[in-house]
Amino acid sequence: MALQNFELSKELLDSQAHIWNHIFSFINSMSLKCAVQLQIPDIIHHHGSPMLLSELVQALGIKQERTPFVHRLMHILVHSSFFMKQSVFKTRDKGDEGGEGYLLAPASRLLLKDKSLSVRPFLLAMLDPMLLDPWQDLSKWFQNNDVNPFHTTHGWMFWDLAGQVPKLNQFFNEGMASDARLVTSMVLKHCGGVFEGLDSIVDVGGGTGTVAEAISKAFPNIRCISFDLPHVVNGLVGSKNLSYVGGDMFQAIPNADAILFKWILHDWSDEECVKILKRCREVIPSKENGGKLIIIDMVMKVHEGENGLLETQLFFDMLMMTLMTGRERSEEDWAKLFVDAGFSDYKITPILRLRSLIEVYP
Ligand SMILES: C[S@@+](CC[C@H](N)C(=O)[O-])C[C@H]1O[C@@H](n2cnc3c(N)ncnc32)[C@H](O)[C@@H]1O
Repeated sequence: MALQNFELSKELLDSQAHIWNHIFSFINSMSLKCAVQLQIPDIIHHHGSPMLLSELVQALGIKQERTPFVHRLMHILVHSSFFMKQSVFKTRDKGDEGGEGYLLAPASRLLLKDKSLSVRPFLLAMLDPMLLDPWQDLSKWFQNNDVNPFHTTHGWMFWDLAGQVPKLNQFFNEGMASDARLVTSMVLKHCGGVFEGLDSIVDVGGGTGTVAEAISKAFPNIRCISFDLPHVVNGLVGSKNLSYVGGDMFQAIPNADAILFKWILHDWSDEECVKILKRCREVIPSKENGGKLIIIDMVMKVHEGENGLLETQLFFDMLMMTLMTGRERSEEDWAKLFVDAGFSDYKITPILRLRSLIEVYP
């Protein structure tokens, strides 16, 4: 009986801990944001060897009395695998730190400010209050008639507000460009073949042109167009085989052999996607003449069994519901979109871990 009671109590307390972990998981995001804003990854990187807490506090230029608080911030970030600790074998004053210094873990190498593949701008964009506030209105939105929680909070749709508020436009475009740099480097390295044989390509919703520019450099014979809303591309200057075109993809898309959509279709509902895809069908040549779509987006469940990956995909699905009108899609969902828009065939290459490369043929 006592054992049974103990088991019941344990289950109850474990459930409480499970709830606490979910209540406070925002502390992981906010601690990481704080470290990035203070440039802790850069400071440790430039130090070049395991960095003592006292050295870190000095380099941060903050009051020495804050040392125990920096220690606590670093404690949770070591726990969440952003930094590692290593003994420092130098003859120098090790204070009361037991001679342990901080090093970057692989994930924080991606948070360095001046690295081309840094995801720092994406982190700062996603954790900006303008994008976080709509989460406070999620339950309110379920009970009202607004299109999404972003609209409930801000009274505007995301892209319209980005056209009005330069700060939002800027940090969002920078965040997207940082992701585009990383993804493009992978795509060109591992699946550059998808671009071979093309004479022209349009990157629809191409932001400030990171992807189109990389393709234009890797394939000087391909005419590349980066197409986006006017407030995104205004003032951008192309090159010999790269141009920027402003417009609305629901109205008209420039002609090309191939149309690229990176992280576009998940922003939109099925009905909206079918409209966009039908526009594409009108402007690309037949499959025999090289016409195709190249989509870089998530395919849910492609890595079934890998728990961490599914959770990330579920996060993005909720993100699309909260900020946009879209969703993350399974292979069956994608196939239905393609058929509804009049395409005949597709091929999924799950090469980018969380995201896949999908080629779609007329
Ligand atoms: C999630 S971002 C993706 C940007 C870029 N493809 C990338 O992955 O880095 C979506 C892009 O679609 C653009 N967009 C939104 N509505 C659009 C429209 N009606 N016509 C053209 N572009 C649009 C946005 O301005 C934004 O740059």
